[in-house]
Amino acid sequence: MNEKSDSGLSLPSQSPSINDTRSKSTASRAKTVICVTLFILAQCLFWKHTGFNVPSFGGKQSSESLCPQATEIFPQKNGKNWQHLSETFSTDDFKKRAVNLLGGAVRIPTESYDGMDPVGIDPRWDAFGPFHDYLLRSFPLVHSNLKLTKVNTYGLVFHWQGSNSDLKPILLAAHQDVVPVHPDTVNEWKFPPYSGYFDGKRLWGRGSLDDKSGLIGIMTSIELLLENKFEPTRSVVLAFGFDEEASGPYGAACLADYLLLTYGKDAFALLIDEGSGIENKLGTPFATLGVAEKGYTDVRVEITSPGGHSSLPPPHTSIGMLSAILVHFESNPFGVHLKRDTPIYWMAQCLAEHAPSLPSDVKNAAKKSATSDKALKVVEEYFFQSSMFKSLAGSTQAIDLTGGGVKSNALPEQAWAVVNHRIATESSLDALKSRDTALLQSLAIQFNLTYNAFGVSQSDEDAPAYGTLTLSETFHEGLEPAPITPIDELPYQLLSGTIKATYKTRRSPEHANIPVIPGIMSGNTDTRYYWDLTKHIFRYNHYNAGNGTSLGKVHTVNESINVDAFLEMILFFTTLILNADESMSL
Ligand SMILES: *[C@@H]1O[C@H](CO)[C@@H](O)[C@H](O)[C@H]1NC(C)=O
Ligand SMILES: *[C@@H]1O[C@H](CO)[C@@H](O)[C@H](O)[C@H]1NC(C)=O
Ligand SMILES: *[C@@H]1O[C@H](CO)[C@@H](O)[C@H](O)[C@H]1NC(C)=O
Repeated sequence: MNEKSDSGLSLPSQSPSINDTRSKSTASRAKTVICVTLFILAQCLFWKHTGFNVPSFGGKQSSESLCPQATEIFPQKNGKNWQHLSETFSTDDFKKRAVNLLGGAVRIPTESYDGMDPVGIDPRWDAFGPFHDYLLRSFPLVHSNLKLTKVNTYGLVFHWQGSNSDLKPILLAAHQDVVPVHPDTVNEWKFPPYSGYFDGKRLWGRGSLDDKSGLIGIMTSIELLLENKFEPTRSVVLAFGFDEEASGPYGAACLADYLLLTYGKDAFALLIDEGSGIENKLGTPFATLGVAEKGYTDVRVEITSPGGHSSLPPPHTSIGMLSAILVHFESNPFGVHLKRDTPIYWMAQCLAEHAPSLPSDVKNAAKKSATSDKALKVVEEYFFQSSMFKSLAGSTQAIDLTGGGVKSNALPEQAWAVVNHRIATESSLDALKSRDTALLQSLAIQFNLTYNAFGVSQSDEDAPAYGTLTLSETFHEGLEPAPITPIDELPYQLLSGTIKATYKTRRSPEHANIPVIPGIMSGNTDTRYYWDLTKHIFRYNHYNAGNGTSLGKVHTVNESINVDAFLEMILFFTTLILNADESMSL
């Protein structure tokens, strides 16, 4: 995933350290998106809604649950088939097969880079050809039973036709690319990054977790369903991008166009893509469904002022003024508050209800917080001790790049910086830009600068000025926060019930219950392009790192996956496909 978030949450009651957030590499998105989509075949599938009672979140009445849980959902009509597959997945033979399938995929380096030229021009895309050949060899039944469409050469869409075309298909997404391995770091790996080596417990290599485990997990579960003669009632569509780690301009952007043209708006019952998994929060394993993504923008701040010899300097150079501006940014962090009816509030409520280690006064405050502002403040204060939680709750700023000046004895005519913003789920790009614009107004006046923010003049352009201050979006257009996936509708329940059933199947009865809670992705995934396909978008890997299984690192040295956890991912996809197939009201 692009800047995958670490949703593990630890607070002082648990341990003094706040979990780190893994990985940061600011992705610059190619500005020009060249999509080659020549597919028509528009087909509209009808939404069939038969009404279904789902519990509501929030606990406004003190007797209500703060975080209602779905019941486990096991396939019924296909119960026997499912049982058989579930047993198959636990055999040593199957484990060997899964290790080979994932290992083979890891051994094909499919790196994507920021700012690549289009497919057909940039030779680095050629790496994906062998990966397609590998999929063809490894999943013969998927290829002979599903219709494959290649979008912009390397984007893959598989369509598995169900017998009832009144049912909306489900969309399973993953990405084929991986973040590059820096040549200088190859020696630091325990096992070489493209070895796909299995040490008896973990499988090593770039992509083993992010996201070839997702892609191979989906393909394997379908291959096995086909081997077991399963014929779907509800269609299943797979969409695999190839530049998610570079923000998806050639992969998911083009796949989105194709899918919209082919299936239409709101055509899918639900979409699941990579995301957070099962991890310990406050000492308890939770499965977190990513129901929201924050927005993103890079704001360039640029100052110009007269150059000249630095033996006769003005009181403030371009660099001096820029420095004052950057200090001003950091002196004015976003005021972040826990607000009701936001995904982060739902998450806090869920942790309050389901994490036994939470102090009881916080638990009580959580119950009252639906109506009491004072109680809400108590909850906020508790959770905001985690800087990660606080960052997810609000908009953020980070000054990540800067430059200016050419010579030590010349006044800098220009100086610039880039401020990276992540935008709170309930905010917007416009609100963010207005905030930045207003923030710098006083400094523009103080330094006598003509001020232009995002193309709009903020000062009298005809008045004489010492220099200019310009704010603009850079690298790519900003991204709005994603629409929030409903948590009180059937798709959320179906997914929750599927997660619980999968989890229970692989564990002893006394540890069989996993709370499923909503959460926020701090990074962005390919789903940024898929908003129109369905409002039920979930970012979730059924990857169990909740109880001592280390998640393994992504985007860095020593990426690896616990193979038992990978087998459980395969069971999860299998259960999901069957459950969705049997649910006529989805
Ligand atoms: C990778 O794993 C090896 C072996 O456990 C270890 O020696 C090395 O420090 C790890 N590298 C990093 C960067 O964590
Ligand atoms: C701003 O700078 C210009 C150019 O140096 C100068 O003419 C003008 O008087 C200054 N304005 C103020 C308010 O200092
Ligand atoms: C989690 O770990 C604890 C302590 O090691 C163990 O007792 C328990 O069985 C584990 N739970 C699950 C669900 O595996």
